[in-house]
Amino acid sequence: MRSFLLKALKDIFTPGRVRTNADDLAAWGVDWTRNFKAAPGAIVFPETVDEVVALTGLANAQGLALVPSGGRTGLSGGAVAADGEVVVSFDRMNRILAFDPVNRLARCQAGVVTAALQAYAHERGLCYPVDFGSSGSSQIGGNVATNAGGIRVIRYGLTRDWIAGLKVVAGTGALLDCNNGLVKNATGYDLRHLFIGSEGTLGFIVEAEVRLRPPPPPQRVMVLGLNGLAAILPVLEAFQAALALSAFEFFSELALTHVVAHRRLQRPLDKAAPFYALIEFDAAAEDTALGVFQAAVERNWVADGVISQSDAQAASLWALREGITESIAPLTPYKNDLSVRVSDVPDFLDEVDRIVGESYPEFEICWYGHIGDGNLHLNILKPESLATDEFYEQCHRISPALFAAVRNRGGSISAEHGVGLLKRDFLEFSRSPAEIELMRGVKAVFDPNGVMNPGKLLSG
Ligand code: MLT
Ligand code: ZN
Repeated sequence: MRSFLLKALKDIFTPGRVRTNADDLAAWGVDWTRNFKAAPGAIVFPETVDEVVALTGLANAQGLALVPSGGRTGLSGGAVAADGEVVVSFDRMNRILAFDPVNRLARCQAGVVTAALQAYAHERGLCYPVDFGSSGSSQIGGNVATNAGGIRVIRYGLTRDWIAGLKVVAGTGALLDCNNGLVKNATGYDLRHLFIGSEGTLGFIVEAEVRLRPPPPPQRVMVLGLNGLAAILPVLEAFQAALALSAFEFFSELALTHVVAHRRLQRPLDKAAPFYALIEFDAAAEDTALGVFQAAVERNWVADGVISQSDAQAASLWALREGITESIAPLTPYKNDLSVRVSDVPDFLDEVDRIVGESYPEFEICWYGHIGDGNLHLNILKPESLATDEFYEQCHRISPALFAAVRNRGGSISAEHGVGLLKRDFLEFSRSPAEIELMRGVKAVFDPNGVMNPGKLLSG
């Protein structure tokens, strides 16, 4: 980074809050994707909104590219800085600034870790119900930037549904207070919702006013061994017809094998099944759930099952699902994060199964996902002998066949991980040319000089 630019950064940030040493650049320059190389020019650690405004002004004046950085748990390269950018880490803006018990709102700085907000809500007899495997490190700002979903979307919705207000610094440097915690506000375009899912391309999310709710009643978790892919939807439908589910997740035997080995967990059932469903529901509905389970065994959809009898057992069953990402990370998976309407899931799974069988015969495929909301994670695992670049190139070559199956059903090539760098060149499989043109127009309004996370989501 040129010395006058470094000096300008140091004029905004006190010593220690501009870093350029190689280890820090390597750590803050990437997210959980493994295939992009980190090459940022510097990392800065703002502590106030004013510093973010000043930095954005400097970037516009000097043509500096800025990459917002939260917990860096993203899986599409949205927080990767590979080209001399300044990484803007929110690690030091990690305070919950206010609690409003009447409106059940918590005002969080962008760097508040999801689990810290969950604990904060819990201490006040409330709950923040959006949850995922990365909640121990992901930050609220990043969650908002990708509209993170996770494991309880079928009951509680996405991050978007819990954001009552946002304070943002647009790419122009303008400081905007969007919606201010209101329930009703019919005063035109809701800019809050434009920023949710914008992947850092329109500006910085610096604060979020997050809705909390009363805690759910005690829950039970069931893990079922399914007799095949075709059983997933009938089982989901049977449970949904009888009781309100909080989660309906699935994973394959290969996924289970990895997580059990990696975390040294117990297998949930005596005999292996090709696929498993993890179901969560109110404990009061346990008898109903056991009846549905029995019927599913009689229909030959389910081979066996287990149900939690304590919170500790529920947590160890959840670990089988939530630990999968980490357990396969050393295998450099190529991550597909696809969604279709839930009613299209059976036919979609059939077609995906056929395509991967034909296109990836030599690769292992690890299936899992939030199938209750139509979201399938299809992870292609890298053979040890293949170089990462070559592996990714091969995956990119065959992605169009998979994405065409998504497009034919009006589905999404990125259900919840975002587009980032990884899916950017495939955006037209989910968004029309007219939509992409308008998205470019929106970007130009909020970030006319292109300083915000350039090259992510939309190609340059
Ligand atoms: C998950 O569902 O576990 C997350 O989206 C992460 C992943 O897909 O690996
Ligand atoms: Zn997921």
